[in-house]
Amino acid sequence: MKQEVTYQGLTFEPYITKEEIAARVQQLAQEIEKDCAGTCPLFLCVLNGAFMFASDLFRAVDMDAEISFIRLQSYEGTGSTGIVKEVIGLTENIEGRTVIIVEDIVDTGNTMVKLVKDLEAKNPASVKIATLLYKPDSVQCDLKLDYVGFPIPSKFIVGYGLDLDGMARNLPDIYVLKKDK
Ligand code: IMP
Ligand code: MG
Repeated sequence: MKQEVTYQGLTFEPYITKEEIAARVQQLAQEIEKDCAGTCPLFLCVLNGAFMFASDLFRAVDMDAEISFIRLQSYEGTGSTGIVKEVIGLTENIEGRTVIIVEDIVDTGNTMVKLVKDLEAKNPASVKIATLLYKPDSVQCDLKLDYVGFPIPSKFIVGYGLDLDGMARNLPDIYVLKKDK
């Protein structure tokens, strides 16, 4: 693991290692297997940030399941714009299905509130949220998170799918903005 990475003049330092991520993903997968046994859940990966987490989580669940992808965007640079744009919509019929939203990080919660509302309107059996990271101090709305990898302070992080304006997603580990620490 690199001791420091720099993007757009901002320096980041190690925060969560790929080994810690892998171990936590296995635990979350086991919880999902237990809770959703017999339902053939549809994993709904929120692109772009969640692609790595979704791929690892989906591989780790030992059960019949499907995966699909939706693309939403609310961040510019290191801050939330507060407006959630749906870039690629859902095409599957989710009526009567168990849907597990797979998200990289819940920050203000705006993205998840909008998505859950949109999905509930399509009459699924249930909608659950699995998020790798969660910033409890930033959440501005009432939101039930079913599976949380790591609760973290409200600091800007990159790596393992998470980006700074498109960069740093390919880091295998998670890094935190240095001046924030
Ligand atoms: P929310 O709508 O404020 O909860 O924002 C959620 C989305 O913003 C996430 O799915 C991420 O894509 C992005 N985001 C939030 N915090 C961070 C961060 O610390 N680093 C990179 N992206 C973030
Ligand atoms: Mg995301």
